Amino acid sequence: MQKTKVVTIQRHIVEQERLIPKATGDFTGLLWDLALAAKTISREVNKAGLADILGLTGETNIHGDIVKKLDVYANEKICKSMEHGGHLCIMASEENEEVISIPDEFPKGKYVLMFDPLDGSSNIDANVSVGTIFSVYRRKTTGTEAAVEDCLRRGTEQVAAGYVVYGSSTMMVYTTGQGVHGFTLDPSIGEFLLSHENIKIPSKGKIYSINEGNANSWDEGTKKYTAYLKENDTSTGRPYALRYIGSLVADFHRNLLYGGIFLYPADYRDPKKPKPKLRLLYEAAPLAFIVEQAGGRASTGKERIMDIQATELHQKVSLVIGSKEDVLTYEKFFSHT
Ligand code: AHG
Ligand code: MN
Ligand code: MN
Repeated sequence: MQKTKVVTIQRHIVEQERLIPKATGDFTGLLWDLALAAKTISREVNKAGLADILGLTGETNIHGDIVKKLDVYANEKICKSMEHGGHLCIMASEENEEVISIPDEFPKGKYVLMFDPLDGSSNIDANVSVGTIFSVYRRKTTGTEAAVEDCLRRGTEQVAAGYVVYGSSTMMVYTTGQGVHGFTLDPSIGEFLLSHENIKIPSKGKIYSINEGNANSWDEGTKKYTAYLKENDTSTGRPYALRYIGSLVADFHRNLLYGGIFLYPADYRDPKKPKPKLRLLYEAAPLAFIVEQAGGRASTGKERIMDIQATELHQKVSLVIGSKEDVLTYEKFFSHT
């Protein structure tokens, strides 16, 4: 009888690192600490209704979003899990206005971590899937202390990116530039086990994901593109199905597996000042790295997300991401406006 190989996330990370000459194991430790934080957040998300961590803190964050208690919990959990390992020199979170330094008592490492601790948190009270997104860079400054410049990067400089989706099961998906791999948490043993090896996104899907309630604020290209997707033409697979959860991680994860396109275009009500919503460093760049590794594409409509140099920690961008052919079609519509 053939034995099924059980691969834990730890084993997988170690084996991936062995492929890199001169690897020190530092990176393995970093991802391992992150997986541990994800398991703890998963446990809290799953018992959220019982643990008095639902609801609002009464505060708004730097983006003007209402802060949920679980956002704060997840943010603190990641900071505390990652600060002492000696792998990081600095962190930045969607929930913190400034960069997060590593406390003096802990050794400093060569990596930079950026994260969205809880994505889609406005959904949590209704038991809808939420997620965590992370992105890792190598430090680039050489002074004694790491600085904000270590966080203001171009997506192509990422050494790893991933997300955790807290859904009907908890999954962690990551890339280090050698394909995209997915692990499902087996709660009975508390381990992430390899369940989706070398994920490839279909080159064309049948799903589009966008907040249609904002349609009146879109640019003309996006309006025309969504109208195009709704036309009946079986030869090109139209009409597409609309699927929108409102949790980027969950919408992205579904489209990664099934194929499709997710769009969050800028608000063009003032055409001179388009206002995007999603954050470059914590949301767009990490998912762009993953989708490209899976054979897909991510752009603003006119520029590759991975090529954008961040100039501000909380910079926002339009995001169009998913199956390659679908994103290319969108870009044609966008460029004609
Ligand atoms: P976050 O919960 O981290 O602030 O992110 C929310 C984001 C993203 O998850 C989702 O795709 C989008 O906001 C939904 O926005 P709308 O409610 O405007 O559709
Ligand atoms: Mn988010
Ligand atoms: Mn968030």
